[in-house]
Amino acid sequence: MEPITVFLAAGLIGIAVLILLRADKKKSEVASRVNKLRGPTNYPILGTAPPLIFLKRNEIFKYVLTISRVFSPIFRTWTGRIPQVHLQRPEDIEVILRSSEHLDKAHFYRFLHQWLGTGLLTSTGQKWHTHRKMITPTFHFKILDNFVEVFSEKSEILVRKLQKEVGSQGFDVYPYITKCALDIICETAMGTPIYAQDDRGSDYVKAVYDMSEIIMHRMLRPWLHPDFIFKFTTLGKRTDQCLRVLHGFTNRVIQERKASLQDSTRGQTFAPSGEDISIAKKRKAFLDLLLEASVDGVKLTDEELREEVDTFMFEGHDTTSAGLSWALFLLGLHPHIQDRAYQEQKSIFQGSDRPATMKDLNEMKYLERVIKESLRLYPSVPGIARTLKKDVKIAGYDIPSECTILVQIYVLHRNPDQFPDPEKFDPDNFLPERASKRHPYAYIPFSAGPRNCIGQKFALLEEKTVLSYILRHYKLRSLDKREDVALLSELVLRPENGVRLGLSLRNVGMK
Ligand code: HEM
Repeated sequence: MEPITVFLAAGLIGIAVLILLRADKKKSEVASRVNKLRGPTNYPILGTAPPLIFLKRNEIFKYVLTISRVFSPIFRTWTGRIPQVHLQRPEDIEVILRSSEHLDKAHFYRFLHQWLGTGLLTSTGQKWHTHRKMITPTFHFKILDNFVEVFSEKSEILVRKLQKEVGSQGFDVYPYITKCALDIICETAMGTPIYAQDDRGSDYVKAVYDMSEIIMHRMLRPWLHPDFIFKFTTLGKRTDQCLRVLHGFTNRVIQERKASLQDSTRGQTFAPSGEDISIAKKRKAFLDLLLEASVDGVKLTDEELREEVDTFMFEGHDTTSAGLSWALFLLGLHPHIQDRAYQEQKSIFQGSDRPATMKDLNEMKYLERVIKESLRLYPSVPGIARTLKKDVKIAGYDIPSECTILVQIYVLHRNPDQFPDPEKFDPDNFLPERASKRHPYAYIPFSAGPRNCIGQKFALLEEKTVLSYILRHYKLRSLDKREDVALLSELVLRPENGVRLGLSLRNVGMK
């Protein structure tokens, strides 16, 4: 080998070693600052993950709650070499969520990218700002007003489907609710019915479930993080299958809607699947606004359209399905609260099973408190995470930039200083006089600050409508106790074995 080659090679190796040493020094500075916080044992390479590896799916959330209690109110964990700081107190959480500097989602949201790309939930920087501005008008109350009709239509189908369960030994209501929520989000977000309640969308539902489970499994196992390893595993292959179903579905809906809009601008009547499409066409769906925006010169690529639509499909049905199912579970456990909610329905509808209007929904004050309290005890999104781009001081600790901050919503909602008797299901926690005494960040099922949930009004109206229909038609009885229901925290918080209910018919004027 020529001396010059040896010299150059030695130089390159030297530079690489220096870079690695610098990076390592920075890492160890970060580590020493993060390790001032208490937390579980930190093992080389794997961090604090090892105990999780041996746990069953339904034991993971319990374990997280245990360490949260032991190291409360602020602690650290390590996933490999990535430090996470967990927050539980409203004043600490406010520091992060209020700020317009800490808007970047945590590293592990990248596991959602394959599915959602960088839609509103996962994007950051300029793209997030522009898209948030573009999408916000979609949730204007006038547009939501149109959607109330869809909520009622789909709820009516739901109560009809539930009729066959009246008097049965008990059944899982969760799949019924999921299909109803899917029908609602498809038609409101995309203007296209999918008839999930008639079992035409079940491949899609299965793919959504499988993807959520796979992403969670992968997040907790650092050796599955590198894409080049993951794609050769069985789960990697299943991911490809799911993505084919998920993206195939959304692409199809976008193309159909585009064709429908083109036909309507040409003045043609477009109703390929019967009258449902022409009814849906009159309403402005989320997708129509995005398509119009691109017509007006704000060019959205087909890929960007798909990302936003996928995000809405995911965020807009899984969260509400969980919220509704938990509300039914709690109503079924508390007959006196259920009865009060029913009396409110009776006084609004006078025994009629007519569709709910926006005015009706605004009158459902008690039901709103029931929904809010259900989301307190079982927040559909039990935790959210950000990556710090700047150092920040929280609770006297100097938390370095690049740390992941985990906001533990589930734990926050059980703070006894904010909610005395925190495990009790008490909708009156949301009486205005009680709510006004709490810290503004004590209750955040929809997150808070600039990156809060864009769909929260939509979600509350949807939940009210669906619950109104169910309460008017049926009396509910939950068959499981709260302590017997295992919680799965897989992107959304779900009961491991669904929500088992018994139903009896009320004397409503059913058609
Ligand atoms: C009970 C129902 C719902 C709950 C509990 C919920 C909760 C949340 C939470 C906690 C976040 C913040 C996530 C994070 O920072 O990682 C969020 C964001 C978001 N939600 Fe919801 N959500 C619900 C329903 C909906 C619905 C119905 C839609 C759409 C129709 C929706 C669309 C979104 C979007 C697009 C974001 C990202 C916003 C952004 O970053 O700018 N959500 N949601």
